[in-house]
Amino acid sequence: MTRQIIPVDPFDYIIFGGTGDLAQRKLLPALYHRDNDGQLPDAARLIAASRSDLSTREYQNFAREALETYVPEKHRDQDCIERFLKRLDYVQIDVTSDVGWDELKSALEMEQDGRIRAFYLAVGPGLFGPIAAQLDKHDLIDDRSRLVIEKPLGRDLPSALELNQDVGAHFREDQVFRIDHYLGKETVQNLLALRFANALFEPLWNASHIDHVQITVAETVGVEGRAGYYDKSGALRDMVQNHLLQLLCLVAMEPPSSDDADALRDEKLKVLRSLKPITEQNADANSVRAQYKSGVGPEGKVDGYLEELGEESTSATFVALKAEVENWRWAGVPFYLRTGKRMAARMSEIVINFRPVPHSIFGEAAGKTINNKLVLRLQPDESVKQWIMIKDPGPGGMRLKHVPLDMSFADNFDERSPDAYERLLLDVIRGNQTLFMRRDEVEEAWRWIDPILQAWTDTAQPVRNYPAGSWGPSQSIAMIERDQRTWNDGDM
Ligand code: BG6
Repeated sequence: MTRQIIPVDPFDYIIFGGTGDLAQRKLLPALYHRDNDGQLPDAARLIAASRSDLSTREYQNFAREALETYVPEKHRDQDCIERFLKRLDYVQIDVTSDVGWDELKSALEMEQDGRIRAFYLAVGPGLFGPIAAQLDKHDLIDDRSRLVIEKPLGRDLPSALELNQDVGAHFREDQVFRIDHYLGKETVQNLLALRFANALFEPLWNASHIDHVQITVAETVGVEGRAGYYDKSGALRDMVQNHLLQLLCLVAMEPPSSDDADALRDEKLKVLRSLKPITEQNADANSVRAQYKSGVGPEGKVDGYLEELGEESTSATFVALKAEVENWRWAGVPFYLRTGKRMAARMSEIVINFRPVPHSIFGEAAGKTINNKLVLRLQPDESVKQWIMIKDPGPGGMRLKHVPLDMSFADNFDERSPDAYERLLLDVIRGNQTLFMRRDEVEEAWRWIDPILQAWTDTAQPVRNYPAGSWGPSQSIAMIERDQRTWNDGDM
């Protein structure tokens, strides 16, 4: 089955931080793939901006290297690479001064066709406000302009409010695209399709039928040369405030009336507002923070976090939480969240655990009835599996077996699975904010996260340890086992 490709309107993508890591690893490869699929109109241009003194030719060489490094060889098409590189322009700008803005203005005004301008700030959050102000000052923002920013969107509620205000002083909310790249992942969008394009799940999607939900984002990597940022952030800010809470919202939200961005985001916001606070009184029972020690990961022996960092720190590289959504649909259904670096496997999944059958008609010889589970695997090997009980085939009487109805993407779709940025970058051009976080969502998420951080400090909750290459500290296992449940660590 070939995908239908609908080209977008002509645009200029202006990438601040054009020589940075995000541009190299994600933005340039994503736009190249869209070009290769025929989705970029001929007139589309990319203007990279940064402080480095480079000519356009030198930047094109830089981009060529990025594509050679981050686009797998089988997807590199030389003609498309040449066409893509011709779209690139480069402007040297010191965003903290007035140097370079006139050059950017003339580059943008070379084309007078009212095209869309998308300013992607692939720079530190400290520069979001100053760049927005400079764009305004130099009269570069028009009605069709958009601003794209990405986490960290603050480190607590006050700083998030300030950042949103700084940006909001120059761009309307419908022009601001706050990326959470998890929302661009295929399985995450599939969760929307599964819930709202099937009549099957909705009647079961509540506390009467669902026992609990688990959301795991496990990584095998350590802090990968980002220790400076990571140590100030820790797993709760780095992963839970954004990615895991967004996943929780999509699982827990009420059906929106349409896929209109605000209809969906209104529902997500209500979930965030319904989260039971984790505070000094209940933090011990409902949260675990931990750091990895040295151990053996899938890539062999690795150092502990403190050795990698080279100094003392209490930042957590692992967090497990028991969250509760206090509303009619979910009362009494725990949402167990966990995320960590240097874990046993790279595995991100959402597991919807259904309640047991009310009564078993089968005798002991048939074996135990295992509860139904719906497992949405985000990565690796994207898939949706509905685990059910069947009769083990063959003679010999009734023997029950737990098997998945398996919708593995690789088996069912003979196509490359696009990176989240491919979808998101073009949604910006389409002006579709459905998969982007609205200002109030980001703030509400911090409103729930801040008290957890505070509780950890106030109660001096210990930072536990786990060996690299494991599934986290024993306290995380104990947290869920106290409720007679277990973490889903494998293909079940
Ligand atoms: C980022 C975090 O937002 O997400 C990183 O800052 C993390 O620490 C990354 O490694 C994980 O993203 P993915 O797409 O590889 O799961």
